[in-house]
Amino acid sequence: MEQYIIKGGNPLVGEVEIGGAKNAALAILAAAIMTDETVFIDNLPDVNDINVLLDAIAGIGASVHRVDRHAVKINGKGVSDFNIEYDYMKKIRASYYLLGALLGKYKRAEVALPGGCNIGSRPIDQHLKGFRALGADVEIEHGKIIAEADRLVGKHIYFDVVSVGATINVMMAAAMAEGLTILENVAKEPHVVDVANFLNSMGANIRGAGTDVIKIRGVHRLHRTEYSVIPDQIEAGTFMFAAAATRGDVTVCNVIPKHLEATIAKLLEIGCEVEEFDDAVRVVSKGRLTSTHVKTLPYPGFPTDMQPQIGVTLALCEGTSMVTESIFENRFKYLDELARMGANVKIEGNSATIEGVKGFSGARVSAPDLRAGAALCIAGLAADGITIVDDIVYIQRGYERFEEKLKSLGGIIERVQSEKDIRKFTLKVS
Ligand code: EPZ
Repeated sequence: MEQYIIKGGNPLVGEVEIGGAKNAALAILAAAIMTDETVFIDNLPDVNDINVLLDAIAGIGASVHRVDRHAVKINGKGVSDFNIEYDYMKKIRASYYLLGALLGKYKRAEVALPGGCNIGSRPIDQHLKGFRALGADVEIEHGKIIAEADRLVGKHIYFDVVSVGATINVMMAAAMAEGLTILENVAKEPHVVDVANFLNSMGANIRGAGTDVIKIRGVHRLHRTEYSVIPDQIEAGTFMFAAAATRGDVTVCNVIPKHLEATIAKLLEIGCEVEEFDDAVRVVSKGRLTSTHVKTLPYPGFPTDMQPQIGVTLALCEGTSMVTESIFENRFKYLDELARMGANVKIEGNSATIEGVKGFSGARVSAPDLRAGAALCIAGLAADGITIVDDIVYIQRGYERFEEKLKSLGGIIERVQSEKDIRKFTLKVS
């Protein structure tokens, strides 16, 4: 099992290039099978989740041609199997986007029902509500969602909770339904807009993505396109908080600063200097930072995917911070690990009270999930001494060349897989 070993104490300094948004790319790749023509997609992050989804897409008969690490050509003409197995769903929940894509194009899909996961129970009732409203017969049998329709017909659908996944999944199916679909109380995340833009570039007629109401006039067919995925706001934010926590000076390049507003606001509140450019943001952290409160909310609120990164940073800020997680119930596991590094935290329900400490001391910790894993690496980079992060397979699901990018900023971090590697690293840095 691979681990990261980190020698903390070096401020991160320099420029880092941000890749394409994983969560936009996952939905876009699924939507690519909705045409019989070839679709070219660029600026994909080269991370495990993307590779698993590409395997699932090839597995149902689509042709998948990897042009290079960040680009792929997909042709959905050969799709002959409408069944996505549990193995894929277990590895990557976003395989459920194939439900909306297959149902939209072929009016039929069978996809293993995703279970809960490390960050919470994660129901998909709103996805199913949307498909049913469009006229699909949706049953759950033997652990599978089986969705079928003679025809899908546009409807007025009100989502009971704001869900990124349900918004995108139902939007995909409605793109090829008959007539007008109106989706209300939808998610406004930048990746929802990106998927709508992608579908429109294939000939779909989707308006309003990025607002509370999306209107979709169904079309009979979609066609070829060439598309570049938007930059990953969460990868960018992760490096911005890494700069803050290590008292560094980092410029994240190839970003859309507008997507980073909530992150920038919190960095300013705790006392960082932030400079915005057209497609870059510089974060400078000098001296001791001060506490603040944060509550995760759907976009444009503070993202749940950035909660562990800000939590780690606040644990080093002077004063008492309150972090409230309102999206997923199980996203505080990293705080127990952080306490082992000296953080002073108390969790009650969906809130954590964090009393800032002067510093962390390196320890062996475990990544409970993707974002929490990245946050623990930030803690290790800010800590005194050596930190070992276990279960980094979670981090590799969503961060491309994570340790290489941190190293390019002066972080001392290696990916290791044996006690021998750990001894070698320890000798080298001591
Ligand atoms: C997406 O998950 C992201 N994943 C998550 O990123 C992210 O944390 C989340 O949105 C919130 O921003 C992908 O895009 C692949 P939701 P998703 O549906 O779509 C409840 C990461 O680290 N809900 O917006 O599954 C749900 O329980 C990952 O990259 C229902 O009740 O999230 C949650 O409380 C982790 N019924 C809230 O809505 C439903 O049918 C928001 O979930 C659907 C959701």
